Amino acid sequence: MDADVVSLTGGRPLPVLQGSLLDFPDDPIACMRRQLRQFGHASALEQDGQRIHFVFGQDYNHQVLTNTAVFHSRFFAVRGPRKSPQRRLSSGLLSQNGDEHKRNRRLMMEALSKKAIQGYTDTIRILAEQMINGWQPGQEFDLNREMTEFMLRLTSTILFGLDDPELAYTIGRKIDHWVHLNHEMGMGAFVSDPDISSRYPELLEFSRGLEAEIAGLIQLRRDGSQNETNLLSLLLHAHDEQGAISDETLIGQAALLFAAAHLTTAHSLTWTLFLLAQHPSAMGELHAELTRELNGQFPSPDDVERLSCMERCIKESMRVLPASSYSQRITALPTELGPFSLSAGQGIVFSQFITHHLPELYPEPDAFLPRRWETITPSPYAYLPFGSGPRMCIGAPLAMLILKMVIPAILQRFQVNVVPGIDVSGKVISTMLSPTSRIMVHLGEPTGKFGAQPVCGNIHDLVELREIPKRNRVVA
Ligand code: HEM
Repeated sequence: MDADVVSLTGGRPLPVLQGSLLDFPDDPIACMRRQLRQFGHASALEQDGQRIHFVFGQDYNHQVLTNTAVFHSRFFAVRGPRKSPQRRLSSGLLSQNGDEHKRNRRLMMEALSKKAIQGYTDTIRILAEQMINGWQPGQEFDLNREMTEFMLRLTSTILFGLDDPELAYTIGRKIDHWVHLNHEMGMGAFVSDPDISSRYPELLEFSRGLEAEIAGLIQLRRDGSQNETNLLSLLLHAHDEQGAISDETLIGQAALLFAAAHLTTAHSLTWTLFLLAQHPSAMGELHAELTRELNGQFPSPDDVERLSCMERCIKESMRVLPASSYSQRITALPTELGPFSLSAGQGIVFSQFITHHLPELYPEPDAFLPRRWETITPSPYAYLPFGSGPRMCIGAPLAMLILKMVIPAILQRFQVNVVPGIDVSGKVISTMLSPTSRIMVHLGEPTGKFGAQPVCGNIHDLVELREIPKRNRVVA
């Protein structure tokens, strides 16, 4: 739609676009790009007096991410009645602020520290080998589906334990469904839609059952040995001078940890493998490093420290296609943000995707160029795939370990080629840049010879696939 730019305050025009707020959840990247194109780094979209504010670039990211007294996090739009299962399930770290957030974050950090995650490496290896051993050369499958299934199993096991993987997996799938329901209801909070609101009772009912299952697991872990190396057991034993984490709080933290971990990591695995398959020069360099450093072995945590080319490829993939593409904050106090004087309760969006594609920060921003990381060290507010500041992702070391172990394990056993002519599309769904088409790949024996394939879909709007021979490019 063609929206009018209006809004004048004290005679000074504000960068406010009058339009439909639904444009944002409908297509966050298109909406944010339009705001950036039209107004630059700070602007708003307004409908009937309600606004979403957008800020991009390292200075605004710094302000919004460091001033946690003013800019509060509120991840779940639908909290349910007080003392309800939905309220408890949606009370994890991303819904906490102030001292409550600081304390719970401190208590949880230990279980996700660099030292603690060494305890999860066997689980990563066992489940990755299980997946890869099930593959055959010549096979074709949807890469994102496979990575999502793998991450569902891995996250459930790391979070809830190896002794009953099927129970952990079943609960993991239920949390996944609960997150989907929340996402749909969250859209309903933007614009009232009777079909969506009618699902509210379904969400409350589902959350009742889910909470009972997580509470059952917590009890099981409470009765288990002190030496168990799953996250839930570590969290159960975490304590400070005020005591341990209560079961009530643990329910929200467990649900959030699962929700925050599995799709973000699955999409990062998919996008990185896709980008490597479509960039033979980077793939060739990585292949040489893996052959030299690993010689066909599954990488250990020590090995991954030496894989500098792998590190650059992952960093560049998370720059150009960041799994977490935007986040939001709510002002808790009146404040100034760029040209805006904001009252409490205003919604702010900042974006990894837009910041990572700013040409002043990254020359040739849409190209996948892992080698750029040999010469650049951007500030944590210019490069923030895991967020930055006091709320930076506490799972980042674990996610990086998974990526750095699983991608080399796959690429040493198979050549992953994109099936020519397929649709490759992605869209931000509930803050995550998710593949929305099937990313069909063909598995071959590793030959050391790589080639990009023509593909169609909106991927060409997200990243410049410049290594596909021009005559072969198929752009939808
Ligand atoms: C590639 C994978 C991942 C990506 C891209 C990612 C991204 C992010 C981002 C951008 C944030 C900050 C959100 C904000 O500022 O609003 C965040 C926070 C968080 N992430 Fe991750 N994450 C990943 C994996 C994980 C994993 C594996 C876990 C847990 C095992 C996890 C748990 C969390 C938690 C608990 C928070 C909230 C931190 C807080 O509010 O203090 N994430 N993540």
